[in-house]
Amino acid sequence: MAPETPGSESRETQETLSNLLNETRRFAPPAGLAAAANVTADAYAEAEQDRLAFWEKQADRLTWSKRWDSTLEWNPPFAKWFVGGELNIAYNCVDRHVEAGRGDKVAYHWEGEPEGDSRTLTYADLRREVSKAANALAELGVGKGDRVAIYMPMIPELPITMLACARIGAIHSVVFGGFSASALSGRIKDADARIVVTADGGYRRGAPSALKPTVDEAVAECPGIEHVLVVRRTGQEVDQTDKDVWWHDVVDRQSDVHEALPNDAEDPLYILYTSGTTGRPKGILHTTGGYLTQAAYTHDAVFDLKPDTDVYWCTADIGWVTGHSYIVYGPLANGATSVIYEGTPDTPHRGRFWEIVQKYGVTLLYTAPTAIRTFMKWGDDIPAKYDMSSLRILGSVGEPINPEAYVWYREHIGGNRTPVVDTWWQTETGAIMISPLPGVTEGKPGAAMRPLPGITADVVDDQGRSVGNGGGGYLAIRDPWPSMLRTIWGDDQRYIDTYWSRFEGMYFAGDGAKRDQDGDIWLLGRVDDVMLVSGHNISTTEVESALVSHPKVAEAAVVGATDPVTGQAIVSFVILRGNAEEGADIAAELRAHVSRTLGPIAKPRQILVVPELPKTRSGKIMRRLLRDVAENRSIGDVTTLADSTVMNLISEKLPSAK
Ligand code: WT7
Repeated sequence: MAPETPGSESRETQETLSNLLNETRRFAPPAGLAAAANVTADAYAEAEQDRLAFWEKQADRLTWSKRWDSTLEWNPPFAKWFVGGELNIAYNCVDRHVEAGRGDKVAYHWEGEPEGDSRTLTYADLRREVSKAANALAELGVGKGDRVAIYMPMIPELPITMLACARIGAIHSVVFGGFSASALSGRIKDADARIVVTADGGYRRGAPSALKPTVDEAVAECPGIEHVLVVRRTGQEVDQTDKDVWWHDVVDRQSDVHEALPNDAEDPLYILYTSGTTGRPKGILHTTGGYLTQAAYTHDAVFDLKPDTDVYWCTADIGWVTGHSYIVYGPLANGATSVIYEGTPDTPHRGRFWEIVQKYGVTLLYTAPTAIRTFMKWGDDIPAKYDMSSLRILGSVGEPINPEAYVWYREHIGGNRTPVVDTWWQTETGAIMISPLPGVTEGKPGAAMRPLPGITADVVDDQGRSVGNGGGGYLAIRDPWPSMLRTIWGDDQRYIDTYWSRFEGMYFAGDGAKRDQDGDIWLLGRVDDVMLVSGHNISTTEVESALVSHPKVAEAAVVGATDPVTGQAIVSFVILRGNAEEGADIAAELRAHVSRTLGPIAKPRQILVVPELPKTRSGKIMRRLLRDVAENRSIGDVTTLADSTVMNLISEKLPSAK
């Protein structure tokens, strides 16, 4: 159900709800940044005037072996972009920079988790490594259109393997290294992959963490796998099977020259599985020309990338779409210098991220609200110890960013200088869709603001009608965009049903959203996370943001639990800040605070102080499990939790429920 379904409520409710997210702080772009920005305000008008011409101009950032015949072929809901065009993605991400005389420029500063374990790869290095890997894959029988499963830690061989696949036209399917053997085998089978590329293990929280045993277990279930190519990273003992080949045996001896042949603009580039809340994972399919066009354009526009001087760091794992588009394809297409970090933010100490920012002089940082709230909880004094004056733009992605987290990020990480760009997008959209432009937009804490030039996102009601300013409803996208998913691998019908059936002719994103009086967009979380309290739709995001705006609260998760009186009642789980005491009346204090901020209707029935929140491996709060706790049920499936012991910690807290 949408938040604030228009037309179905009294005026009084509308007024209560229009108080929600009543955020008045504004941050104008720094004058210097605005004056030299890559993208200026006229880009919106330009794109509006001729959307396809706008995207053609962006496609001209790339080097095409053959120019396209037509920009867009749209047989709803199936799109083809840059039809007839040909290009090679690896050539665009690597070779062309070397050919242009920038071979000595650093592509990646790679930082291993063990301190002092680092590696630098220039574009020339990357060309050699990718060429060798491409030759090795070909020797192992991988050809155009074949699927390659990749299950690796955050080491340079991961992007190298992805680029090697792209180079030969093979389709990669990266599976995040935290997934189980059954998750891996399910994905291998769904994509019918021929080979798996993996490592003995990676470093995680200060110790080697094995990957190969999980691959062995998965591959035992997958007769279609012919070879397992294994990088030696940690030196852990591994069981050898007859499918195994070592990277250092097969890749190292290859020629470092490989000719990149052109692929069709619509040749598949990769499959990436997204779990969603229900059902079996969906293999999201991305293709070549449109995907790279939008990944490159948005990386340039949203981060105002100056390739000669910027040092860019996206802290995501490459196993998620954020890493695909904004560690690998976008930045490399733009010739950027990036940092890749293998490990966790608290290894060996809680200042590790800021130490890395200081060490490499990071100027552009892209991370997630869940990380930002963790840093808030650890305390302001930690980032304060490091010189982070190099930073000029901060990005956020993955969830709505609470206004308090936004302001903290800007102040304690960005030294009150840096714009914060809250970027909304999805695995399915392939690239950023809604975001401020750092040199143009006056930022509002908590708002993703406006669709980027060339994107037609809207907030619509139940019937798919635009809600207009001040209204709330569902986020929808009206026109096809270059980096959109082309289908769900092997299941066109599910693609149609999931994304294109809710509203006639529009893409349904599954997120609740509202437009404020200025027409700016605020994301309100997945539509299944909306609560219905006494007949009012209330978004979990808004109550969570209200709780986080209290000085004692570091993180909050809110769910609707069945209630005999109100239909659903709001139950909140909060983590207190490092220095806050859990006083006897903290619950009363927080309830009063929410009531003051959002109105009495949004006051939680219950507030539980907990040490941790259940999160997926990509950092999203699993409200489903908290709903089980709130409704006194036995707790459901915890297998996708990053840390499955968290639910025990929370259940122990239950008797103290206030
Ligand atoms: C869902 C997509 C996009 C890469 C990482 C997640 C939520 C993402 C924001 C944001 C509010 C956001 C949405 C979306 N989301 N970014 N800036 N503000 N919500 O990719 O795993 O496919 O998840 O993440 O709910 O639908 P994903």
